[in-house]
Amino acid sequence: MKPWGVYIHVPYCSAICPYCDFNVYRLKKNTDWDGLKRAYLQEIKLRIKDEGLDLSNLVSIYFGGGTPSLAPVGLLKACIDALQPAQHVEITLEADPQTFTQERVDAWYSMGMRRLSTGWQSTHPEILKKLGRLHRAEQAWDALAMARAAGFTNINVDLIFAVPGQTEEHLAVDLERMVQAKPQHISIYALTYHTGTPFDRWRASGKLRQTPEETELAMMRQIQTALRASDFEHYEVSNYAQPGMRSQHNQMYWRGATVLGIGPGAHGLMNYGDHARRWENHRDVAHYISAWTKDAMFSVAWEEDLDAQKMLIERIACGVRQKDGFALSPHLDCQIAALCAQGLMFIEGGRVCPTDRGMEIADLLASTLCC
Ligand SMILES: C[S@@+](CC[C@H](N)C(=O)[O-])C[C@H]1O[C@@H](n2cnc3c(N)ncnc32)[C@H](O)[C@@H]1O
Ligand code: SF4
Repeated sequence: MKPWGVYIHVPYCSAICPYCDFNVYRLKKNTDWDGLKRAYLQEIKLRIKDEGLDLSNLVSIYFGGGTPSLAPVGLLKACIDALQPAQHVEITLEADPQTFTQERVDAWYSMGMRRLSTGWQSTHPEILKKLGRLHRAEQAWDALAMARAAGFTNINVDLIFAVPGQTEEHLAVDLERMVQAKPQHISIYALTYHTGTPFDRWRASGKLRQTPEETELAMMRQIQTALRASDFEHYEVSNYAQPGMRSQHNQMYWRGATVLGIGPGAHGLMNYGDHARRWENHRDVAHYISAWTKDAMFSVAWEEDLDAQKMLIERIACGVRQKDGFALSPHLDCQIAALCAQGLMFIEGGRVCPTDRGMEIADLLASTLCC
């Protein structure tokens, strides 16, 4: 049986950032953590049994959000225990710097977590303010120190660029500070204006001025140059890793491996080799808890089957964003030859990979190859 992973969605945050479109809710005093824990455990148990998944092939557990670092440590531990992970399983927690205390970080380490993904977003107070973040810039450094003191040696930093008001000088300082902080992994995303978010409305009304495309591209190149010079491998459009420190979880997603999506609004995929099934759970937390605990049944918002052709299209769409590309496919000979001739892709070891220029226009490559 092939390696598989688990994604557990924790849908609460201290405040909702005005650019965010994840399935998130503001944490309240009466949040039903016990109900959520029971539902997670039930969903984990039923899905593993229903699919006949072998726990010895589990390679990654990822707590994402929302802000999973707000969850009671008992809830996180119960989920891990239910999955009986072997020593090598990569267990990641997405963590907001302002939620760190040494006691909590030590507890995460003791329950087997070995990778922390920390949401810095920027090292500049004025940019954090623009993003509506609650944490102070120094708290990110404190969080890093606490993580290292607890024993973590696999730390990711999330950053956002092309934020209104952010200059190339701001970004240069962020990158210098990353080289100084030396996390094992950096995810750095261009700010996206998702439909329906306050940022999208403020852009439409002129309250926010979106960074011009040419500046965003220049920033992308600035990031690549600075991080490569410090030995980070640029292995996906928005992801950089020190040698051997790529994220297992991210790669499983991009390669279309089985990842059980657990929790409200989580997306999951079961890969059966020649076809796959994908689903999204109910987004509303009370609905999710009631379905999995009271009714003890599979309850999803939607699901769809993917045939071999659809799976191939998805592999290509993800492959053009990754350094390792996608497996050569005879159906696409003409388009690939044309993209190679334009210097956007190259073929190596039976794989079609994007060049640096190709990665910069990965979405365009995907639409050229997948239509
Ligand atoms: C699901 S969030 C979880 C992390 C944590 N809740 C936080 O925000 O620090 C994962 C990452 O997505 C990125 N992100 C979220 N919304 C974004 C947006 N609209 N544009 C670009 N990056 C975004 C941020 O870097 C964030 O850290
Ligand atoms: S903390 Fe993260 S998940 Fe929560 S609202 Fe902000 S960006 Fe979204």
